[in-house]
Amino acid sequence: MPFDFLQPQADLSARNTLALPARAKWLATVTQTGQLAVLATHPEFRSLPRLALGCGSNLVFSGDFQGTMIAIALKGREYLRADDTAHYVAAAAGENWHDFVQWTLAQGWPGLENLVHIPGTVGAAPIQNIGAYGMEAGSLIDSLEVADMATGGEIRRFAATDCAFGYRQSIFKREGWHRTGRCVITRVIFRLPKHWQPHTAYGEVAAELARAGVTRPDPLQMAATIADLRRRKLPDPATLPNAGSFFQNPVVSAEFAAALASAHPDLPRHPQPDGNVKLSAGWLIEQVGWKGRNLGRVGMYEKQALILVNRGGANGRDVLNLGRAVREAVFARFGVQLVPEPVIVGGARS
Ligand code: EPU
Repeated sequence: MPFDFLQPQADLSARNTLALPARAKWLATVTQTGQLAVLATHPEFRSLPRLALGCGSNLVFSGDFQGTMIAIALKGREYLRADDTAHYVAAAAGENWHDFVQWTLAQGWPGLENLVHIPGTVGAAPIQNIGAYGMEAGSLIDSLEVADMATGGEIRRFAATDCAFGYRQSIFKREGWHRTGRCVITRVIFRLPKHWQPHTAYGEVAAELARAGVTRPDPLQMAATIADLRRRKLPDPATLPNAGSFFQNPVVSAEFAAALASAHPDLPRHPQPDGNVKLSAGWLIEQVGWKGRNLGRVGMYEKQALILVNRGGANGRDVLNLGRAVREAVFARFGVQLVPEPVIVGGARS
């Protein structure tokens, strides 16, 4: 196999949506799964740290990466089959997430419409089980394929039940396989319902549909509504670099949430099926005064306090410093530990 898919000392600054400066010892642009087998077995590469890279929309480069950054450029999408209840549609890991969602909608296979415009690739979606507006990608994943880098890049299949999807969680993340490059997702198979129902329960979505006088939205109306909501609150990384939500929404016990709510009656609370309560990190950050406030070259976005933005020329250190300041302020006031949502790469930790 030729080695022209490998580039030494590669600049990653255009490969992360926070636009942070960083280099990788090697950048591998993978267009065929056989190249993963080379990285898993070749003596020069098999013991180097590795990390899969999609659009870099959920990464913070805190410094250079002394390993192989694997840019997943596997392409292709196909209709596989149908059964009584669903259409089965596959996409290679390097497909752009939003383009894939748009394509399924244009083909008449709705289901993913609440997840339009999420930056990233299809292969990155299962790792943190991307979610928005009352829906998570994991709920429509049938199965996926991964290259097992510990066994020479052998392709293995995971059923959705093997993936242990939860709120911003999966087996890949829980086991740290996304950090160690143990598994690289190569293809995802979706199960899109034939009997489609809109997901309209999310407060802002319901309010927006009511405002527009729409009572029975079709999939394209849902997609357009979500697109509008996102445009209003979430900055476009092309004009204001960011990595989406910088923290996960904290999930706390019902007792803790009740005690907090008695001191802060406006506290937004979202009971979870397991009895715990999800709080809104954006609200907590706004309460401690960080919404719209900068620290050097970075800041928390003025329209959505959960988004950390690069105001120009920031590096990973700036990002981690702001992350720490916000976490400390929230902990001091509410006793809640915020956990960063993006993966932090390159040595330093927040
Ligand atoms: N809030 C504030 N101030 C803010 C932001 C939020 O008070 O500045 C409070 C409000 O009470 C609001 C609630 O937080 O009603 C929820 O806010 P929003 O609907 O904007 O959602 P979020 O919980 O802040 C999550 C996801 C987003 C996703 C939106 C919409 C996480 C970590 N983030 O944000 O996902 O787009 O819901 O579903 O779960 C991402 O993960 O990168 C991301 C952008």
